[in-house]
Amino acid sequence: MKKVLVVDFGGQYAHLIARRVRELNRFSEILPAKEYGGSLNWDEVGAIVLSGGPDSINEKDETLVKRILEETIKRRIPVLGICYGHQLLAAVLGGEIARGKRKEYGSTSIEILVEDPMFKGIPKKQIVWMSHSDSVASLPRGAELLAMTENGVIASFRHISSLSYGVQFHPEVKHTEIGMRILENFLTLIASLEKNWYPKDRAAEIVAILRTKITEGEALSAVSGGVDSLTATILTSKAIGGEKVHAVIVDTGLLREGEVEEAENALRKAGVKNIYVLNRSTHFLSKLKGVEDPESKRRIIAEEFAEAFEEFASELASSGIKLKYLVQGTIYPDRIESGAVGSGSDRIKSHHNIIMRKVGQLELVEPLAEFYKDEVRGIARNLGIPESIVTKHPFPGPGLAIRILGEVTEEALEKARKANKIVEEELREFGLYEKVWQGFAVLLPIKSVGVKGDRRSYEQAVAVRVVESEDAMTAFPSRVPWELLEKISSRIVNEVPGINRVLYDITTKPPATIEFE
Ligand code: XMP
Repeated sequence: MKKVLVVDFGGQYAHLIARRVRELNRFSEILPAKEYGGSLNWDEVGAIVLSGGPDSINEKDETLVKRILEETIKRRIPVLGICYGHQLLAAVLGGEIARGKRKEYGSTSIEILVEDPMFKGIPKKQIVWMSHSDSVASLPRGAELLAMTENGVIASFRHISSLSYGVQFHPEVKHTEIGMRILENFLTLIASLEKNWYPKDRAAEIVAILRTKITEGEALSAVSGGVDSLTATILTSKAIGGEKVHAVIVDTGLLREGEVEEAENALRKAGVKNIYVLNRSTHFLSKLKGVEDPESKRRIIAEEFAEAFEEFASELASSGIKLKYLVQGTIYPDRIESGAVGSGSDRIKSHHNIIMRKVGQLELVEPLAEFYKDEVRGIARNLGIPESIVTKHPFPGPGLAIRILGEVTEEALEKARKANKIVEEELREFGLYEKVWQGFAVLLPIKSVGVKGDRRSYEQAVAVRVVESEDAMTAFPSRVPWELLEKISSRIVNEVPGINRVLYDITTKPPATIEFE
């Protein structure tokens, strides 16, 4: 199967481009720009997409990348340059780049000037998403101008004798309405790539591959309650038999309501025979006593989690079970760092690394390492994992501890758990749960005056946060209906003891984060 290589020049774009290509049923992988010059198996490459990036062409030494790009073009491998990639392509072909003269940010209107397969089926005037300060000032020889922006910037060109195209705008973002159509045109009409990537149907294949990899011994797995670790565990169990998989759920006491039971039931239903729920809630609470700083909470929880897990692993081993493998629900974005910073995946990784350090003698099994979250959801659905788990919002490893600002106590946990449940229930009730990225409640460490019945109260506040996001790198507060907020607020102040005020967090990421810790 030919793949589309997305050369990553940093910024936050590469994963989104790779996902879009996969949504169009072609396999894609990310290649960090510094590895583009390494040994490529050209026969496997169906097309190259050059991603956007934060740098300025004239300031960066891209000699090596340029040389490989020249070779790519010579081999007649179709190239699509996006934003920085568009400028790089123009520069390699002999065009000129102007620094910072014609900046464009946000929605911008373009006009398509000629008929070309790239813009097939697309009306001439379009709104696209721009985010650039440099631009292509003059086209290379042998290039044809395809589209201009309303500000006179070259929005797209093609190089006539090769299969190379550049677009200054971002087809991968939702704000570019014709984005998917352009990518589809590129993949079908320019690169002639067949549609052959259907990840949800790959469960049987993953199981077969696991079978060849896991030849002897048994597997240990840490199940968190989320869809990734559960799916990875169930796939492994299908491959080597439910009796050879030991699934461990560390109940930190920081999980959402019903989460442990839900995971346990799903594992049992899928045929996993050895399920261990380690109730460590009292222990975690005692370790978190007096701790207010969010990073300290995270560190303590990660370390205690790893310790509980390791202790149990050695108990199992000393009882004569031949553990040889450690199953993890690592997914593609956890594994392939893109230029972006501040994503949850850094933290997920540090969590994993701690476990790995301690259970280091086990061989790692990561059945989902090739897949994006939506693809994992498809696989999970096909395996019969309940919809309530498949569609679950992301949840931080340290759980409710970071949705409580200030000290984590039993009472605080109770409040946070109830408030979170109400937000989730109401989002589902309004049919919005699956449309937003995440919705949750945060217990604030402030008290204020209110009236309850005839009395004045002096109680805590809860912040509700519902965000929309593509990839957790950026996020926008969701404009949920006012009635939903009213319902959530009224339920929280009535049903959660000690709360007399509810606030809605309207901050974007950046500058805030998605979690409110
Ligand atoms: P932030 O708050 O950094 O979060 O904007 C980005 C995304 O990552 C999730 N998140 C985590 N996920 N372990 C996880 O598995 C963690 O420690 C963690 N911290 C944040 C967060 O919920 C959001 O979706």
